[in-house]
Amino acid sequence: MKVPRWTNIVAKLSRFSLLTASALLFSFAAYGATYAALVRKLPPEVTAAINQQIKNELDGAQEYLRLANNFYAINLNGFGAWYTAQYAEELNHARMMMFFLTDKDEIPVIGGVDVPTITFTTTLDAASRSLALEEIQTDRIYKLHDLATATNSRDAATFLLFFITEQVQEEANFKNQVDKLTLAGDDRAALLAMDKDAGLRVIPPMFMPPPAP
Ligand SMILES: [Fe+2]
Repeated sequence: MKVPRWTNIVAKLSRFSLLTASALLFSFAAYGATYAALVRKLPPEVTAAINQQIKNELDGAQEYLRLANNFYAINLNGFGAWYTAQYAEELNHARMMMFFLTDKDEIPVIGGVDVPTITFTTTLDAASRSLALEEIQTDRIYKLHDLATATNSRDAATFLLFFITEQVQEEANFKNQVDKLTLAGDDRAALLAMDKDAGLRVIPPMFMPPPAP
């Protein structure tokens, strides 16, 4: 009987170990690449929720555009300009979210916008209803941020922090208007002074994507 030499056994074991180690290494590398791609990809529910918020922002823009037109029609042009600036801000919010999605290789969904629903009888009424709309938008942004956090979408959660801060400003702007208009009451001179002030609000330029690296 031929007894295998130790050197042959060692050589065979070495070949086996080398093959096994290579296969394991390849598997780990493939798993690592897949994992890396998966954690970078936005979860579908987060993408869908951001798309929904894009629509909400565009709907909000329409509401403010309509309010602006209403004010221009009654020659309160300062408030017309103020609400036009608000319209531009909402468009920019939607555009920022669109660029976030395209940076993540997602194509934003551009659907139809709803017909504006805010009606008003006085300038104070318009500001109060706009404040209520912004409070709804804040709740939506909070829920969106909660979803991004719950799904470990760190990039989406961080991106949305801007909008959480932005909503504080949006609500404060309208609260400021509500308070001043409440103080003015039926004083027409005060209303005209406020209209003049409102006309000083700068209409923000269209948000552009960051320059390519
Ligand atoms: Fe907004």
